[in-house]
Amino acid sequence: MNETYWKTTASKYPTLTDDIRCSCLVVGGGLCGVLTAYLLGKRGVDTVLIEKEHLGFGKTMGTTAKATVCHNMIYTRLEKSIGMEGARLYAEANLHGLRLLRELLLDDGAASRGDCQRSDFFLYSIYGERRIAAELRCMRECGILCSPINGRESRFELPLRIKSGILVKDQLQFPPLKAIHDIASRSNVGIYEETEAVSAIRSHAGYIVKTKNGQAIQASKVIVATNYPVLVPRNLSFIKLYRETSYAAALTGAPVLRSMYFGIDGGYAYRSHGSALIVSGERHRTSPVPNAADRLLEEAKAMFGEVTPLCSWSNNDCYTHDGIPYIGKTGDGLYIASGFNGWGMTNSASAALILSYLAVGENLPFAGIFSPSRNIIKSGGESLAHHISISAAGMAKNLTVPELTAADIRPGCAGIVSHNGKRTGAYRDNEGKLHLVSLKCPHLGCSIAWNPAAKTWDCPCHGSRFTPDGICISEPSTQNSCVEKTSAE
Ligand code: FES
Repeated sequence: MNETYWKTTASKYPTLTDDIRCSCLVVGGGLCGVLTAYLLGKRGVDTVLIEKEHLGFGKTMGTTAKATVCHNMIYTRLEKSIGMEGARLYAEANLHGLRLLRELLLDDGAASRGDCQRSDFFLYSIYGERRIAAELRCMRECGILCSPINGRESRFELPLRIKSGILVKDQLQFPPLKAIHDIASRSNVGIYEETEAVSAIRSHAGYIVKTKNGQAIQASKVIVATNYPVLVPRNLSFIKLYRETSYAAALTGAPVLRSMYFGIDGGYAYRSHGSALIVSGERHRTSPVPNAADRLLEEAKAMFGEVTPLCSWSNNDCYTHDGIPYIGKTGDGLYIASGFNGWGMTNSASAALILSYLAVGENLPFAGIFSPSRNIIKSGGESLAHHISISAAGMAKNLTVPELTAADIRPGCAGIVSHNGKRTGAYRDNEGKLHLVSLKCPHLGCSIAWNPAAKTWDCPCHGSRFTPDGICISEPSTQNSCVEKTSAE
């Protein structure tokens, strides 16, 4: 688990070693950050991008890279919550985002061109004829070219009897890391890898962003495109965002699909890359759910027969309560893009467009619905209330008394034990080595729990994740969970 299919590309960019100045600093080298920097550079803005690891090493590396304007049942949801005009603006933003990706990645000069494909996208249901019909109507009213399909559609390649579906032609599939490196190489901005921003302090001329290695970057404007906007501590992201974990696997032995697929009944998605089938699904709120990764494989086997996993991984995406990403200004000269709700490719591209306009004082007609300061009580109140109740329950779990001791934990297993009189998380690896962590999440103190599928300690409150040794691998926590003790007991 946790070996992504997209092969990593060796670092190409230097690490920042000096203090620098720029007009616009982009923090985060995923698709959104790289596209934003590219667009700003094209507009002649003196831009620098910094990435704490390597380009694409965050959420982009875990994506299945299906770029489409069809985002599950978003248009019927938005029609209900913010009205058809709002849904239309969401569609317009994503249509622009998709166009941008096509222009860049299918361009004659694009190095990744051979690997990027225009591709049809199918949204389908085995049961929900009425829901599909409603989504189709909304999509059409939003100006999206799409058509209904039934179980006899010859282009539908999955061996399934479906009741109904929607076909959206001319979408895009691509290898995300290759695409990111391609776009970055064509940008005229300064790019620094292994350069982590740790604070952004307001100054007379904008912001001074400090890096972990001690450099200072003076920038008039700062765009935080880090999936979870950790650099913006006072914007209540932990309330406004929640995280969901999903699983993906690349498999051999399945037929090669020309199109991309998403089933609304089970939430499984399929696409091919070369001879590999990439399947994803089993999405759930971040907290341990037993056997989720196994179920994904079983689903693929039930569909395609004996397939062999090449690799599998999990992703931890940010979701918003109203289904609309937060993109825009969050302070004077400070901008964010977050909460792509599992549709990070086109949402990244529309975010890049919006941010590249906002940063030069211009606006796009569809930008308003993405405002990070919008009121979500009416459009996402139910989800928000659920989120708060889950957080409260996560805190209360700290009061439970462990019934196990470290000696009870068998190899490959984890549990909550009493250690030196404290509730402690214990995982024993297959070699018998015991890994002990504090169960109190360093973010706000909820009780973390073991996720056997990903072999991580996950926080159910706001979605932080930690390795068996307590190293933080997913925000909002920015600190490791205190390692109590590691021994060979
Ligand atoms: Fe917020 Fe754990 S308490 S992520």
